[in-house]
Amino acid sequence: MVQINLPPNSKVQKGEYYKDKTGSKNIRKVNIYRWDPSSGKNPRIDTYEVDMDNCPSKILDLLNKIKNEIDSTLAYRRSCSHGVCGSCAMNMDGKNGLACTKPHEEIKGDINIYPLPHLKVKKDLIGDLSTLYKQYESIEPWLKTNTKVQDKEIIQSREDRLKLDGAYECIMCACCSTSCPSYWWNGDKYLGPAVLLQAYRWIIDSRDDERMERLKKVADELKLYRCHTIMNCTNACPKGLNPAKAIAEIKKMLATA
Ligand code: SF4
Ligand code: SF4
Ligand code: FES
Repeated sequence: MVQINLPPNSKVQKGEYYKDKTGSKNIRKVNIYRWDPSSGKNPRIDTYEVDMDNCPSKILDLLNKIKNEIDSTLAYRRSCSHGVCGSCAMNMDGKNGLACTKPHEEIKGDINIYPLPHLKVKKDLIGDLSTLYKQYESIEPWLKTNTKVQDKEIIQSREDRLKLDGAYECIMCACCSTSCPSYWWNGDKYLGPAVLLQAYRWIIDSRDDERMERLKKVADELKLYRCHTIMNCTNACPKGLNPAKAIAEIKKMLATA
């Protein structure tokens, strides 16, 4: 049997233990993945005892409390705190989601927090999304019209506007793509559910004049057909969207084009 070992410098080790100093009777243990590329050390799991009597309800509140009161070196992304910007996406209790909308009460026992899976890590909970952003750029996510001068609003019927529901709400958090096994193994070639949902959003926009060109651009064995309808993406989406359905719709459009 083949035995696959991690390189010694990527083995995750036991890290620091930060004991509660408040004397609170309401303590939870939070285990967080830590890695600082500038240290030359292995990744580790640090454990923090957190006073929950003085912590608001979401995982992001918990992280902010740790950063502000216990360990200022902890690195993670966040901006809006309201599930709008997508920057606080991470893996909590084994599931991808947005730290600012995930209640810590939903997690039983110790709280385990990791970066989004299968991304290169920049630091601690910050994954490297540069490949995903390049892929996003490649689908040209903007309106393309053949009209040279557009001096007034392009009107869309109510029915055509409604077709965009379920697609325009995507915040590009990458929870779906980083939960997709096909994207794990072929992330440099397969566009993945987040980018394909965005491609779909522009393909079906009645105001766009390049539907066929857009379809041709994604009609590729690796870019599109690596989706095997495993559905992890749809289960992972914190906005309740269905990227797997959008991918199926693109395939259907190509089959009937
Ligand atoms: S349905 Fe397709 S995109 Fe979604 S997780 Fe499965 S393979 Fe990935
Ligand atoms: S489809 Fe959902 S999970 Fe995927 S990037 Fe958009 S909002 Fe995030
Ligand atoms: S901080 Fe913006 S979505 Fe969580």
